[in-house]
Amino acid sequence: MEWLKVEVGPCQRILLILVLMYSKCIQCNPIKVTSEVTRKTLIEMPKIQLDKPDSYICMAVPVTDLEFSTVVGFKIDVIQEITHHVSLALCEEYETNQTVWDCKSGHGHICSGRSAVFGSWDGGSKNHNVGILFGKDVKLNYVVIQAHFKEAVPDPDALKSNPTNVTLFLTEDSRNYSYQKVILFSSGYIPAFSDDFKAEIICKWESIPVKLYEYFAHAHNYGQLIEGYIVRNNTKILISMDKPKGKSHDTVQIEGRHIEIRPGDILAARCSYRNKGPSQIQFGLGFFDEMCNLELSFKYDAKQIDAFPQSVKCGSDAQDRVWCPNGGHDQVDVLCDLQHEATTKMALEDIYKLIM
Ligand SMILES: *[C@@H]1O[C@H](CO)[C@@H](O)[C@H](O)[C@H]1NC(C)=O
Ligand SMILES: *[C@@H]1O[C@H](CO)[C@@H](O)[C@H](O)[C@H]1NC(C)=O
Ligand SMILES: *[C@@H]1O[C@H](CO)[C@@H](O)[C@H](O)[C@H]1NC(C)=O
Ligand SMILES: *[C@@H]1O[C@H](CO)[C@@H](O)[C@H](O)[C@H]1NC(C)=O
Repeated sequence: MEWLKVEVGPCQRILLILVLMYSKCIQCNPIKVTSEVTRKTLIEMPKIQLDKPDSYICMAVPVTDLEFSTVVGFKIDVIQEITHHVSLALCEEYETNQTVWDCKSGHGHICSGRSAVFGSWDGGSKNHNVGILFGKDVKLNYVVIQAHFKEAVPDPDALKSNPTNVTLFLTEDSRNYSYQKVILFSSGYIPAFSDDFKAEIICKWESIPVKLYEYFAHAHNYGQLIEGYIVRNNTKILISMDKPKGKSHDTVQIEGRHIEIRPGDILAARCSYRNKGPSQIQFGLGFFDEMCNLELSFKYDAKQIDAFPQSVKCGSDAQDRVWCPNGGHDQVDVLCDLQHEATTKMALEDIYKLIM
């Protein structure tokens, strides 16, 4: 699934017993929702016995079971006390031969080959005219669901219902736009005793023009502010500015602002942290690690299907102050100016006014 290339520490091995009254996972409900969505297909993850908290379980469904050929949205329903967070992907291949498996050790790498990984994208995206064509011809052969379970589940039979459901919205015809995302992230660490440490990320867009329509900004416990910009000819365009809320994955729509990324643009992001403690904090996926993660969902011309076989990754080491000097990119002096600006609460409120 490859949605982060941050270094991961040795993962805690968990003992896991998969009890698999794995009956029939797919039920095709011929429900006509709108003229756009021709079919809703429910995929239920079976009840599974988990003897440790904080487990990651994956499940793969061959797309040949889905009948229709384009995903235009999905909906996730979970029992919140049990299932914490669900990711969904279409993949060419995945890491095991099993249908349901423990995917904690492969953290973030459950697909191989071509893939489209959705952070959050629901039926509301219909009007973006975005769809993802799947099947052998486009090398997307499996739907893979990854669920993060907060608590142990010692007695799955006691659960009232399956705790993790994914409903796919499907249609037979293609869409004008396809979906992919760009992931900006930091590696390295936050030094001890730092009042305002900034992890900066920068990279150049070398691909075709795309339109942004949704993002999420994600940090863990020390994040104060997460900012994203496009720099074009030394002018900055604000994409996002958020105060991170714990480990939230909430997505924000940016469709109304029609932000385009053009070839030659610079994508820039930074996260500001306060770490008053005596230890440095690593960036990573572990519970005690920190993250600086800005994921931008975009749509692009579906005729150019080969432009983005996977998500685009853009990572920088937090110890390299890549914004200024400019990490080897021209025309980004504006980031140097910004580097010296204090990111005050006032500035944040101004920005919100701008966005609204
Ligand atoms: C999942 O779907 C099944 C079948 O419709 C339903 O009984 C169950 O309550 C659903 N679970 C959740 C968490 O929505
Ligand atoms: C999957 O199964 C094939 C054939 O049974 C085997 O050769 C291959 O090693 C298996 N792969 C994994 C990852 O278990
Ligand atoms: C989608 O593409 C078709 C065929 O290229 C075109 O006729 C139609 O106007 C497009 N629709 C939108 C909303 O762009
Ligand atoms: C920057 O400006 C130059 C000259 O005005 C123009 O040729 C170039 O296309 C611009 N670059 C971008 C990425 O817009």
